[in-house]
Amino acid sequence: MFDRDGMFSRLRRHPDIEAPNLMAVDAADRLILDESAVALSQARPGAVAVIGDHYGALTLGAASIHGSTGVRVHQDPLTGELALASNAGAVGLADRYRPLTLGKELLAGATVVLMRLPRSLSELTEIAETIARYADPSVVVYAGGRDKHISPAMNDVLGHSFAVVRATLGRQKSRVLIASGPSEVAAPIYPVTEHLAEIGLDIVSHGAAFAGSKLDIGTRYLLEFLPRVNPRARTAVDLGCGTGILAVGLARLLPGVAVIATDHSSAAVASAAATARANGFGDRVRALRDDAMSTLETASQDVILCNPPFHVGAAVHTGVASKMFAESGRVLRPGGEMWTVYNSHLGYRGALRRLVGPTDVVGRIPKFTVTRSVV
Ligand SMILES: C[S@@+](CC[C@H](N)C(=O)[O-])C[C@H]1O[C@@H](n2cnc3c(N)ncnc32)[C@H](O)[C@@H]1O
Repeated sequence: MFDRDGMFSRLRRHPDIEAPNLMAVDAADRLILDESAVALSQARPGAVAVIGDHYGALTLGAASIHGSTGVRVHQDPLTGELALASNAGAVGLADRYRPLTLGKELLAGATVVLMRLPRSLSELTEIAETIARYADPSVVVYAGGRDKHISPAMNDVLGHSFAVVRATLGRQKSRVLIASGPSEVAAPIYPVTEHLAEIGLDIVSHGAAFAGSKLDIGTRYLLEFLPRVNPRARTAVDLGCGTGILAVGLARLLPGVAVIATDHSSAAVASAAATARANGFGDRVRALRDDAMSTLETASQDVILCNPPFHVGAAVHTGVASKMFAESGRVLRPGGEMWTVYNSHLGYRGALRRLVGPTDVVGRIPKFTVTRSVV
């Protein structure tokens, strides 16, 4: 067993963005572990599940302080999963847990669930429903976060899936909601399918997917430019695909193109695959969970479409966009083109020029800019 703070001091965020103001462990992780200490110490082997662990503090905290084994873990972003794996290796606890998708295998028989409250209510709804549906009826959920990210509506969402929900006292601007008494889940809400008449597509979305089944306004603007994409393109990537609207939009326009819809989010990849199937493009749109296309071959793609994220957790940070641009410069073949939409105030043109190649602004409206970069 480890001294907790000694173990925590060794945890890193890598391969997620690292910066002095971005931590791998925070007060909410510590509070969740303290509130659940008795339950963890009494849990049978294999009866602990962890959801939304940022970089491994919850999983490795349970394993190191309480000796938990067979911990089942779901993390939506691949970067979190990779960080946990590398942290677990560094502290010698890699054999204590296994990563799983959100579903029955993750939760069947679980009596203790530790989780970080997600940012969106839709993600929380899907998680709460899934726990209530599959975990042991005696399950107790310890769902914590920083006060600034917790809203009263989260109590209500948990209250739909659990008979009892109470909040702990706050500590260091953090709080834990404790839920027990899972309710019967008649018909799960997620994944949701909606027809977007404006673009003539059915969109399938899991709770954690960006924009849900709505059309993001930046994406809407980039869609206007798809008819200008090289019509001879055979390979393309929707980088940071969310529900896969850009991937399916391009596959519909260019019958000869095979598109990889890729995202680091497990919910996004499941949504994009389902959106492609729902619109009859399952054979030409392949969904791939990856960190900024890191597994794609160099000089292998004709086109990349990208609506990059500009939030890293709570902090506004352009690190992810820069990583995506640098990888695009690597993955595009010579002469390949990248189409990007971004909030005009972010001024990404210089970074695109430097990391991809010559970049023209092809469209600008008050909020958004669309560029075309050529390698
Ligand atoms: C602004 S959203 C765009 C979603 C979708 N393309 C659309 O237009 O609706 C950015 C997407 O980038 C994804 N993302 C963030 N970091 C990533 C990373 N390191 N690798 C791959 N995708 C990432 C997010 O999960 C999110 O789905």
